[in-house]
Amino acid sequence: MQPLPFPTPNLSAAAELDASNAGVVVLAVQPSGESSDDVTTVTCEIPSSLSDAIQSVIKNACDSGELTGKPGEITLFATGDSQTPWVLLAGVGTADQQSRGKAYELGASVVRRLIDKPRKQISFVIGQAIESDDHDAVVAGAVSACEGQHLYHSAPAVSVPENIAFVGFSENAVTRGGTLGHSINHTRRLVNEPPSIMNPSGFAQYAEKLASECGLSCEVWDEKRLEAENCRAILAVGRASTSPPRLVMLRHDGGGDEAPLVIVGKGVTFDSGGLSLKPSEGMVDMKCDMAGAATVVGVMHALAELKVPRNVIGLCGLAENMVSGDSYKLGDVIETRSGKTIEILNTDAEGRVVLADTLDVAVQHNPEAIVDLATLTGACMVALGTDVAGLMTNSESVCDAVEKAANAECEPVWELPMFPLYDEKVKSKVADIKNVGEGRWGGAITAAKFLENFVAEVPWVHIDIAGPAFMDSPKPHRDAGATGVMVRSLVRWVENAS
Ligand code: BES
Ligand code: MN
Ligand code: ZN
Repeated sequence: MQPLPFPTPNLSAAAELDASNAGVVVLAVQPSGESSDDVTTVTCEIPSSLSDAIQSVIKNACDSGELTGKPGEITLFATGDSQTPWVLLAGVGTADQQSRGKAYELGASVVRRLIDKPRKQISFVIGQAIESDDHDAVVAGAVSACEGQHLYHSAPAVSVPENIAFVGFSENAVTRGGTLGHSINHTRRLVNEPPSIMNPSGFAQYAEKLASECGLSCEVWDEKRLEAENCRAILAVGRASTSPPRLVMLRHDGGGDEAPLVIVGKGVTFDSGGLSLKPSEGMVDMKCDMAGAATVVGVMHALAELKVPRNVIGLCGLAENMVSGDSYKLGDVIETRSGKTIEILNTDAEGRVVLADTLDVAVQHNPEAIVDLATLTGACMVALGTDVAGLMTNSESVCDAVEKAANAECEPVWELPMFPLYDEKVKSKVADIKNVGEGRWGGAITAAKFLENFVAEVPWVHIDIAGPAFMDSPKPHRDAGATGVMVRSLVRWVENAS
């Protein structure tokens, strides 16, 4: 595993631009029209502490007619001034083009544009152009840009800037944004590490170390404890692996004696499909199959650092789905921890099997609500594409709260129906339920229907992140690989529930 902590920039809030030590000065460029259909020229607020010569270079750029001021537009140029050698103009769009999501992307794409070379200082001077409520999102984006999937290049692929100053931001926005950015990066790091390193015990060790640093309590169940706890479903999925399963329980005690919220994550550290073996094309990215569990770790880290006044438990069900003489088999019947029996008809539908026991542990804590995250089905990607997470629930009110938090963070989610007619499709002839639906139709929902059997009466939302958790190609604001999707949304969901 790459050593922790990994390099991160020093972050600071500043009232004024220190023009003698500004490094790269980042300024916001806005279309001067009221709405996006009415764009003629661009405007830029230029700090008066910059030299006259630099101010006129920037004015000329704005008057050139070549800038649009659209979100995502980035122009980096040399000033010829030794104190402030570089200026970066970043388009922030008109008021109707701005959002919290765009603020995050702005911070991220600016820093990503600058990490090609070692830099001592970057100074964001965009305070007025961005809603102050979204200043933390700019910081989170800037921090997230320092992490990517290039962990094992022998020559470092990116240089993390030494210092990033945010002029006109509050201390609070910088601290909060930094925490969110680091939390997202922990999630992404867990996912991006190779599967033989981030196996169940490697994951558990990372979680334990992080928990001790941020003041979460952490309990790890090894295979003996899992046996004692009757977690036969988790053990069955992990049985063919030489890296035995684990269950990680993180606890943030921020509240009084109220019932906790529990966040559960699928942590299949590698999904070969088992005896229902995946072809190479389907297996190649399956180190990402613990993204749900990694999201739980990221969210719990943020809740602890932000001292959110709520009791929250994070549970990660960790197993490696492999092939051996001892593999769990098609036709096997497993008595889960809850006592319900499941018939295995496809060993590649392993995530729901791991979650069956993990959700049962969650229920035992008498939670007010459970949210689970899982890279559960290809079917959810067929339904919603790669950018949108699927929501399925037994409680419209908790689902609405999750949806509201995700909308506020601009992380796209869409609810899929849980009509009772789907219940029939996971009934088994030999056991209580079977681990596949009938054919592939409605596969995201039949998977959720399976899970619903293990949450008893607890209000519950299942989030299928198979699409947005891991990306094949990079974006201006993010490297390819793990995305850290839903960390911000779930932190907000817990904060809203506090
Ligand atoms: N981990 C996969 C789902 C997945 C696919 C996640 C692509 C991310 C990207 C899951 O364990 C799986 O294999 N699901 C099967 C279920 C089927 C056998 C009922 C699927 O979606 O094909
Ligand atoms: Mn699978
Ligand atoms: Zn899987």
